[in-house]
Amino acid sequence: MRLTLRRPDDWHLHLRDGELLRAVLPYTAARFARAIVMPNLSPPVTTTAAALAYRDRILAALPAGSDFQPLMTLYLTDNTPPEEIRRARDSGAIAGVKLYPAGATTNSDSGVTDIWRCEAALAAMEEAGMVLQVHGEVTHAEVDVFHRERVFIENILAPVVERFPRLKVILEHVTTADGVDFVRGARDGVAATITPQHMMLNRNALFAGGLRPHHYCLPVLKAERHRQAVLDAAVSGSARFFLGTDSAPHTRGSKESSCGCAGIYSAPVGIEIYAELFEQAGALDRLEAFASEFGPRFYGLPLNEDRIVLERRPWQPPAEYRVGADTLVPFRAGETVSWSLVSA
Ligand code: NCD
Ligand code: ZN
Repeated sequence: MRLTLRRPDDWHLHLRDGELLRAVLPYTAARFARAIVMPNLSPPVTTTAAALAYRDRILAALPAGSDFQPLMTLYLTDNTPPEEIRRARDSGAIAGVKLYPAGATTNSDSGVTDIWRCEAALAAMEEAGMVLQVHGEVTHAEVDVFHRERVFIENILAPVVERFPRLKVILEHVTTADGVDFVRGARDGVAATITPQHMMLNRNALFAGGLRPHHYCLPVLKAERHRQAVLDAAVSGSARFFLGTDSAPHTRGSKESSCGCAGIYSAPVGIEIYAELFEQAGALDRLEAFASEFGPRFYGLPLNEDRIVLERRPWQPPAEYRVGADTLVPFRAGETVSWSLVSA
């Protein structure tokens, strides 16, 4: 069985830089027309100039003939000036601004310590029509790691959505029933991206037969009822939920460590795995809207006009991909994925 889809976009992606960028980009470019490229490099991409320079490095790393388009983001800090937001908008190359609460995840040390220090920047975003992309977790050590999304929604996200009624807001990689309910019930201009791992796995996958570092990502996998809520939202046909892989490569060495990095590298199975999950949920007919329509509509961008073809043919992602002296372990390594990419 074959499935022809309007070419999808990835609305949440980590491409890294240098050797890693060159290793991972071809997998995304083979599947997706565009991707929202996260700015959490080290140092983070906090200015329009840095984002445009990063964009040039991505374009230079593309395989010959690819017309993949990186959609850049700025990394919001306590001190992002409103003028920087306007510069970003005027550049035409920057699709949004990413809010990382300080300390929430990989390279978030320069993140926001208090959202109300960003009022001027948020007001400028609302005015400029720039999307706020939110890593929705509080970082206080006293909040249980499994509750961080819910507490963030109550303490920060809901007040921000109310204070800036025209600001477009995306709750990135939603992982809980609380997050899904919030987005469903919110005013217009609020949406969420959904990763394959949060549709597929619950937190047991972190401890199946032993500690599983390659299933560790942030926000961390949640209990089964939350997984079910996230899956239901993805396949519901609601335009508020769309595809964002959050593919986040870290080398095997930095994953399999006494203090391992958070992130699941899913780019090599980036669309195939969503096809599998939608099929299992009896919702293959809704995959195209989730992967290729709701995202561009939310961002106010045109739909892609070309198509990709998937085939229901099982294959096994390799155990690892070589990168210099290290390797990357992809999501579903050595397991069977039921859909294959036929043509890009
Ligand atoms: C991301 C990374 O490694 O950059 N990690 C992750 O687990 N998702 C950061 C992020 O999106 O939180
Ligand atoms: Zn991410």
